[in-house]
Amino acid sequence: MNKLVLVTGGTGYIGSHTAVELIESGYQVLIADNLMNSRREVLEGIREITGIRPFFEEFDLCDMQKLIACCNKYEKIDAIIHFAALKAVGESVSRPLEYYENNLGSMINLLKAMRDFGIPGLVFSSSCTVYGQPENLPVTEETPVQKAASPYGNTKQVSEEMIADFLASAEGYRAISLRYFNPVGAHASALIGEYPIGPPLNLVPIITQTLIGKRSELHVFGNDYNTPDGTGIRDYIHVVDLAKAHVAAIRRLEERKGNEPFEVFNLGTGKGLSVLEIIAAFEKVLDMKVNYRIVPRRPGDIGCIYADASKAGEILGWKALAPFEEVVLSAWKWEQQINRMTNV
Ligand code: NAD
Ligand code: WQD
Repeated sequence: MNKLVLVTGGTGYIGSHTAVELIESGYQVLIADNLMNSRREVLEGIREITGIRPFFEEFDLCDMQKLIACCNKYEKIDAIIHFAALKAVGESVSRPLEYYENNLGSMINLLKAMRDFGIPGLVFSSSCTVYGQPENLPVTEETPVQKAASPYGNTKQVSEEMIADFLASAEGYRAISLRYFNPVGAHASALIGEYPIGPPLNLVPIITQTLIGKRSELHVFGNDYNTPDGTGIRDYIHVVDLAKAHVAAIRRLEERKGNEPFEVFNLGTGKGLSVLEIIAAFEKVLDMKVNYRIVPRRPGDIGCIYADASKAGEILGWKALAPFEEVVLSAWKWEQQINRMTNV
């Protein structure tokens, strides 16, 4: 029997792409999602790509009774990938209690489910936000974690600590925390992509919305950072590359190699790109103009961060491969697809 992976938040952006890669690698996928930031139609997209519709249970992971019922129903879950979370940094500052309740409540329940149902492995969605603005670049896993700048970031730090404490208390369990840099792009088929319930907040979907005319202009948040062109630098990683890293992490958990029950990996390309370089790449690849204007810095933004992802290369055998051109093409194709879906 193929191994069954519980993918929480699996109808969301990164979760749906990961579900595809898991299915294509021979895993059975069970998605648990309350659809607070995603849509049921995503399941159909996954089916169209892979030929297989994942199992789906709609419930809030903060509801322990529903999680228990789900674990009982599927009997043997081999591993969990925990994507489900609220993720808007700015919103977390104005609604901290909702962020702590949702992100930490669901985390505690999943650890309890691992303990009570003997689920041996967990992959956790962490974030480069745990590093704040590091003194030295690129960022390795040894770079010190800084006091979180937002309640959202704090939920990632506390979740990692909760996982470590749980693993220290019980034999036989393993976990991997994946610290993502900036996920971008969409599946090449344009059958799945980032499709949040509210307006997108990240740079790439804002660029594609500007290109398609949903927004009149892109605001570039500051050109006075200590970077070559003054705009912010980030490590943008294609979401399909990111999804593949989760399959590698699940394999690593299955093999039970290494002495550490809890491992942490940075997932990025190792290359930083500035906002103006991103705009230039879209303009060149698509032969279109991005209407943009420089405005003051966005509060809470840092100037520059990019990953050293060599540990993931050495231990997981994973590397980000997609050139940025593929991000541009897939993001644009997906924006056009959303446009079609919303205009029918
Ligand atoms: P997303 O919002 O697209 O997906 C998250 C999914 O979780 C959504 O489908 C939502 O409905 C679901 N969900 C949230 N709370 C839930 C709950 N209590 N019960 C059941 N379902 C719930 O977000 P994403 O971009 O795919 O992010 C996935 C994970 O990766 C998150 O943990 C996020 O913090 C982390 N992450 C994202 C980024 C990014 O830039 N997208 C960067 C670093 C880390
Ligand atoms: C990228 C760059 C902006 C929008 C966020 C979270 C981080 C992680 C990834 C979850 C920055 C600039 C953006 C715009 C702009 N998520 N920008 N105009 O802030 O690096 O990271 O997502 O863990 O925790 O903070 O991503 O895409 O918002 O911004 O100029 O309209 O684009 O200033 O330099 P960010 P982003």
